[in-house]
Amino acid sequence: MDGRDLVRLAKAVSSVGSAQGLRAVRASWRHRRADAAGLPRRGVERARVPGSVVDATPEPGGGLVRFTRSRLRITVTASGAVFWGWDGAEPEPSYALAGICPEADPRAVLEPDKDDGWRVVSERMTVVVSRHGALEVRTPGGVLLRRELPPRWWEPEGGGEARWAQRSEVAADARFFGLGGRASGPRLRNGTYRLWNTDPGGSFGRHDDPLSLTMPVQMVVADAGTHLVFHDNTWDGTVALREGCEGEGSGHDCAGTSEVRMDGGPLRSWVVVGAPARVLSVWTRLTGAPAVPPGWALGHQHARWGFGSEQEVRRVVAGYKERDLPLDAVHLDIDHFAARQAFTVDRERFPSLPRLAEDLRGEGVRLVSIVDPAVKAQRGNALYDGGRAIDAFVRDAANRPVRGVVWPGESVFPDFTAERVRKWWGGLYEERLAQGFSGFWHDMNEPVSFAAFGEPTLPRSARHAVEGRGGDHREAHNVYGLCMARAGYEGLRELQPQERPFLFSRSGWVGLQRYGGTWSGDVATGWEGLRSSLSLVLGLGLCGVPYSGPDVGGFDGEPSPELFLRWFQLGAHMPLFRTHSALRAGRREPWTFGAEVLDHARVVLRERRRLHPYLMTLAHLARRTGAPYVRPLWWGAPEDRALRDCEDAFLLGDCLLVAPVLDRGVKRRAVQLPPGRWYDTVTGAVFDGPGQVAVDAPLSRIPVLARGGAVLPVRDRDGGVVLEAWAPAPGRTGGGHVARDVGDGWEEPRIDRFRVRWNEGRVVVEWDGEDGDVEPSYPVRVRGL
Ligand code: NOJ
Repeated sequence: MDGRDLVRLAKAVSSVGSAQGLRAVRASWRHRRADAAGLPRRGVERARVPGSVVDATPEPGGGLVRFTRSRLRITVTASGAVFWGWDGAEPEPSYALAGICPEADPRAVLEPDKDDGWRVVSERMTVVVSRHGALEVRTPGGVLLRRELPPRWWEPEGGGEARWAQRSEVAADARFFGLGGRASGPRLRNGTYRLWNTDPGGSFGRHDDPLSLTMPVQMVVADAGTHLVFHDNTWDGTVALREGCEGEGSGHDCAGTSEVRMDGGPLRSWVVVGAPARVLSVWTRLTGAPAVPPGWALGHQHARWGFGSEQEVRRVVAGYKERDLPLDAVHLDIDHFAARQAFTVDRERFPSLPRLAEDLRGEGVRLVSIVDPAVKAQRGNALYDGGRAIDAFVRDAANRPVRGVVWPGESVFPDFTAERVRKWWGGLYEERLAQGFSGFWHDMNEPVSFAAFGEPTLPRSARHAVEGRGGDHREAHNVYGLCMARAGYEGLRELQPQERPFLFSRSGWVGLQRYGGTWSGDVATGWEGLRSSLSLVLGLGLCGVPYSGPDVGGFDGEPSPELFLRWFQLGAHMPLFRTHSALRAGRREPWTFGAEVLDHARVVLRERRRLHPYLMTLAHLARRTGAPYVRPLWWGAPEDRALRDCEDAFLLGDCLLVAPVLDRGVKRRAVQLPPGRWYDTVTGAVFDGPGQVAVDAPLSRIPVLARGGAVLPVRDRDGGVVLEAWAPAPGRTGGGHVARDVGDGWEEPRIDRFRVRWNEGRVVVEWDGEDGDVEPSYPVRVRGL
């Protein structure tokens, strides 16, 4: 144990209590011993590079290039994404892919290039392979987007997993985004980012890294074009990013660099090139369409760790009602479990959950349950006995169940990388549905095991099924939350096939969107935490996970009324809009912050409700096109450098620009505008972009601007849908979409498109439908005249 471990130990004891603290000490020793015995020793390593090119064999979509010490397969797929894999790595098996490996594009061919190199020319990009194994991705016009230097491997002499490193160069003006959820973004500045899903332990700040949901996915935006690169490898690793520099005066630019280093696993990548919307569309075709949440999950949700009783839940819900504050869901945390064990109920404090659920549902409020993976290792615990009966729990290299410590005490962990375990686990949601829960909140699934020293997770030597291939925690760790989400999602689909599952998960990996969304985790209360909230949602959206949001108000402590309100105003414009806080933290009900905050919060909640049809439309567009609800300002204009560097505002769909207040005392702020006309939706003030403008941001609201020409569906006072059309700039046109979703079920909603234009001095909105379709009739309200 070193000094840092002692600090950790003190923290563990103070946050989980002394009995748990002692268990954590014992578990840490056990895990250390398990790894000492169960992990292969690395010993002497030998470095390797691909060597020189030997020959190449064309195949559909590309081909195989052989080097003296490795081989490289390149395949351009019909969707335009390109795959390459070294040392025999193929696209499958992969936890990221949606199940159907895309077909090769037969038009892309491998042909000889200069200097003994090879190239694959496709419609969207050209990949050039040098004779020493460097790879270049170029636009069809020949402009370089990315240069991958020849990879390097380090192989243990006695055999075993090779570590590898891949260094890449990008344009001097390029900006990096993504890598999953990062608190310090959205623009990822120079630094080393770890790829190992981690509970930071207590609330996290802007510079805590990594967090619960890491992904080896970079979105790189440069003047020459945008591309996404994905290293399909679930192992522990790092990505070191360095932005380039533009040598004003000297005339010398230096390239931006990215160096990915992995502790093992395949060296294989996917690259997608194009406008951001196209990149996300191809990306979600590859990794799966985002699940559409039921309508109520786009409303306002209130959570708390420590409601403590049914009466308290009823009191909070009544509080919303009495004050005329819309509320759509309440989340119950681990304090409603018996002895903190998932899939149980503390019957003393929650004697009649089904009745509570039914009563709340009658008032339009759903109940959501937290679900933790850890199972208390105690005979007589039904979950433990059930899991043991099917051999569900992760074992160590000596075939003993791995024991850790989580909320229920000494615990074991289901191996979600086994299909039969996922099936068993998915069936457990039947109990939750019978209790009346409508949605599920997966937590502690990095997975966490409290540690006094060492890593707060399972030992790396722990064995996993890895879909029958067999492997250990080094490979399975990062997909543990993803596989748990799959278990829950598939279970729910079987248990109530007519409803759309609502599930969001703290940890996950590439492809999580197929099963649900995520949230910030324990973001620290403070202005920095507010900024991190935006960073996380933007970054995750660019990696294909569009549904997420922060703990509004921050997880710990007590926000000032001003901070709470600013968080509330931001959160209301994110897909998951949820107030939540920790056991001993202050309350987050809007009325606990004084009359002024309450009045402003009411306006926010009503506006959220008014925007519901628009949010529902964005959910369907995300599913069909991959475009996240929350997008960076550069979404439609990545070549605009000022937008690329703007981190304090975002687009909500195509129609709205949201400029939250992220600092104390601010009542007016600068807003960087994308091209086009913009209207302040409250004052009606008109601005023309691109450029920067100053906009009022009184305590009562954050600036929300509507794009000239936007058409968005909003809810009318009587509950019907109205089209709100914003006048285009003179001579310009516009448009928008409306998805007609009934709030649940699987019926494919109709998505109508509307156009807006000027006609003889009037703004007209026209349906852009197909012949034979019935024209929908929505009342239209034109604004901005
Ligand atoms: C950690 C989660 O991030 C937090 O949201 C939750 O309240 C606690 N675990 C207790 O379950």
